[in-house]
Amino acid sequence: MHIIVTGGAGYIGTHTCLELLTSGYDVTVVDNLSNSCREGLRRVEKLTGKSLCSFYHIDLIDPLATDKVFQHCPDAAAVIHFAGLKAVGESVAQPLRYYQNNLTGTINLCQSMQRYGVKNLVFSSSCTVYGTPASVPITEDFPLGVCTNPYGRSKAMIEDILRDLHQSDPEWNIALLRYFNPVGAHESGVIGEDPNGVPNNLMPYISQVAVGKLQQLSVFGNDYPTPDGTGVRDYIHVVDLAKGHLCALEKLQQQPGAFACNLGTGQGYSVLEMIAAFERVSGQKINYTIAPRRQGDIACAYADPSFAARELGWKAERGLDVMCRDTWNWQSKNPQGYASR
Ligand code: UD1
Repeated sequence: MHIIVTGGAGYIGTHTCLELLTSGYDVTVVDNLSNSCREGLRRVEKLTGKSLCSFYHIDLIDPLATDKVFQHCPDAAAVIHFAGLKAVGESVAQPLRYYQNNLTGTINLCQSMQRYGVKNLVFSSSCTVYGTPASVPITEDFPLGVCTNPYGRSKAMIEDILRDLHQSDPEWNIALLRYFNPVGAHESGVIGEDPNGVPNNLMPYISQVAVGKLQQLSVFGNDYPTPDGTGVRDYIHVVDLAKGHLCALEKLQQQPGAFACNLGTGQGYSVLEMIAAFERVSGQKINYTIAPRRQGDIACAYADPSFAARELGWKAERGLDVMCRDTWNWQSKNPQGYASR
């Protein structure tokens, strides 16, 4: 079965392409390489011993280029759509760029899919669509909350667009996968997360402090209503997350329709617990200081993963130590990310 993966050169994309190739899928990648490089996919090909069908260096905001991909892939059965801008702070500063890229890119993609009769879509959504949840754990039927930034709103808007699309034409089968906090790397340490510039997210920040690239971590707030006062999140190993996409593809085939599904572990860890676990597993000391809260952050978010277990037969298998081990393995082998070699 031939799958088109948009944003396939990125962090979650490369790990998902690896799982798809390993499971015998044919894979075509579409990526504008705005926050990724070809090297990640080269390494995926090396690791799996398999080649991508094709790689298209194009931007989904170009409708003609997007159409061409489908023209050249007449046997495409489904699309996994990762492509999108995702930096929260940048989205506040550049809302038009974010809306144009994320919304127009998705609309163009769906129009091409419709024209070429490819109506199976797995969309990369986020737990950010829940805003500040009234309680935890979060189930899929929680109301969609008020997002605090354009990035988050673009995800919520795309979910609405895709639900409308399914409503208008039930031939569309759509999985909205709401990721919690992806961390870790493939156990080989050959592919991993390679953020542009100073990382915004906790785990890459910790690992860059550990490897000596950054001086000190700022812990954003220790006065939250959580056991140790620092923010609690549901960190999920990227390989577990990648495997969730394959389960979603299978589900769409067996039981067509549209659904939203959390991909998380169901277990929350605080920032201080993450630091302690990383220090224990890596043997590195993480310098940190307590800083003011970061605007827009919430105290606590973790998934109820039971829908995914019941409906997709998927469950995260990798625990906190494996997440830290694999992050450190990748970071220490590739201190400069893909530019290291
Ligand atoms: C963030 C985004 C979310 C996005 C997700 C992708 C915000 C407000 N939310 O989620 O929309 O889908 O990334 O993974 O940015 N922390 C520190 N120091 C740091 C960095 C983070 O203390 O240098 C803390 C945060 O306050 C938070 C936790 O670590 O409590 C996790 O932060 P982060 O990795 O940025 O993820 P989220 O904020 O949950």
